[in-house]
Amino acid sequence: MGAVSSLPFATKIVKEGCAELVVPETSEQLATTRLPAFYNPLSKVSRDIAVLATNAYFSGSGSGTVAEPLAGTGARVIRLLLESGVFSEAVAGDISEWAVKLMKINVERNGLGGRVSIERSDANLLLSRLATEDRASYVDIDPFGSPVKFLENGFRATGRRGLIGVSATDLAALSGSSRRTALWRYGLTLVKTSFFKEVAIRALTAVAAMTAARLGLGAEPILSVAYRHFVRVFLSVDKGRRKAYEAAAKVGYLVYCRECLNTFVMKSISNWTEKCSLCGGSNAALGPIWTGKLYERSVLEKILASKLAGDPTYEEAMKLFMMLVQEPEDVPWSFQLAEVSRRARTSPPKSRAVVDRLRELGYRASITHYDRAAIKTDAPANILLQLVRELAGK
Ligand SMILES: C[S@@+](CC[C@H](N)C(=O)[O-])C[C@H]1O[C@@H](n2cnc3c(N)ncnc32)[C@H](O)[C@@H]1O
Ligand SMILES: [Zn+2]
Repeated sequence: MGAVSSLPFATKIVKEGCAELVVPETSEQLATTRLPAFYNPLSKVSRDIAVLATNAYFSGSGSGTVAEPLAGTGARVIRLLLESGVFSEAVAGDISEWAVKLMKINVERNGLGGRVSIERSDANLLLSRLATEDRASYVDIDPFGSPVKFLENGFRATGRRGLIGVSATDLAALSGSSRRTALWRYGLTLVKTSFFKEVAIRALTAVAAMTAARLGLGAEPILSVAYRHFVRVFLSVDKGRRKAYEAAAKVGYLVYCRECLNTFVMKSISNWTEKCSLCGGSNAALGPIWTGKLYERSVLEKILASKLAGDPTYEEAMKLFMMLVQEPEDVPWSFQLAEVSRRARTSPPKSRAVVDRLRELGYRASITHYDRAAIKTDAPANILLQLVRELAGK
C-alpha cells in the first residue's frame, strides 16, 4: 500500500456495504468539513438509499453510467458500482487534492480501476463537460450544505429518462427556521411549522423541479426522505415542454393557520387570504414547495421486494422505506401530536391509536417517516383535534 503511506495524514480502513475504503483517521471532535478528505460514516444510510433507489429505478433497463461530481473519498460511487448492479461505468470528481488521491486508491482497492474515471475538478466544470459530451444515466449531487449551485449543471448532465439524486444538509434554510437564507439562497418564503421536515423535502424538490423546468426538462420525485441531518430527493428527468410544464404545475404554496393548524394547498398566490376560514385566526403562506407526490409507489414497492431488501447492510434504510410506504404520498403536511394535543388541552395520545382511529373514520393516515410523533393524514385539523380529545376521554 505504497500510495497510502505517502499521504501526509493517518488513515484507517473501513468496510461499508461491499466496499473496503481507506479513509482519514479522525478524532471525533473534528467536523467533517475540516477533514483532509471526506468520509462520514453517518452518511452510510444516504449511500444505502442511493444504491436501493438506483437498483429499483434502472433494473431491467440495461447498464447505465454514474456521475458523482462531489465524490469525497469515493464511498458512494464505489458502492453504486459494486452493489446496485445497474451501472457499468462512472465518472467521479472532487475539488480536494487529498480526496482525489484517496478516491484513486479506493477505486483500485475495490477492483474498479477500469470502470471509474476520476478527475480533480470543480463539480460544475465536470458536469458541464458531461452535459456537452456524454450525459450520465444517474447523477448524484452530494455536497456539504446546499446543492443549489450544482443543480442546473446536474440536470444538464443527466441523460433523458435518467435520474438525479440530490442531498441537502442546510435544513435550517429549507425548513423555515433561517428565513433570510431561504429567501436569498432559494427564493423561498418559508415560515416555521411543526412539519418542518416535510417542508424541507418539498422545498428542495420544488427548487430542483423549477431548475429543470427552466431547461425544458420535466423532473418529478420518485423517492424522497428526510432523515437525521439530511434531506435526499431522487428525481426522474425527461425532456420536453409539456413535461416541464406538468412538473412546474405541481409547484405551489401552503396556507397554514398557526392557531388551529388548518393547512391547505394554494396553487396561485392570488387566492391568498390572511384570515383562517375555520377559526378566524391568522394564516401564513409558505412556498413555493412541491405539492405533488413525494414518491412513486411502484418504485418504492420494487425496493421493498428487491433482492437487496433482505441484506442486513440496508436494514436502516429499509426500516425507513417501510414507514414511507404507509404515507399518503400526496398530502404535503403533517400534524405533530404534541401541537394538536396542546390545542385540545390533553396529553398526546399514542400515534398508532390516532392512525387507527382516522382510518376507521375513512381517512388516509400514517405516522411519518421523519417524526414518529407526527401524523400524515388527509383529515382536516378540526377532526384530528376532536379525535385527540376523544382518545383522551374528554
Ligand atoms: C459531503 S462530501 C461528499 C461525500 C460523498 N458523496 C460520499 O457519499 O461519501 C462533499 C465533497 O464535495 C467536495 N467539494 C466541495 N466543493 C466542491 C466543488 N466546487 N467541486 C467539486 N467538489 C467539491 C468536498 O471536497 C467534499 O469531498
Ligand atoms: Zn384556523
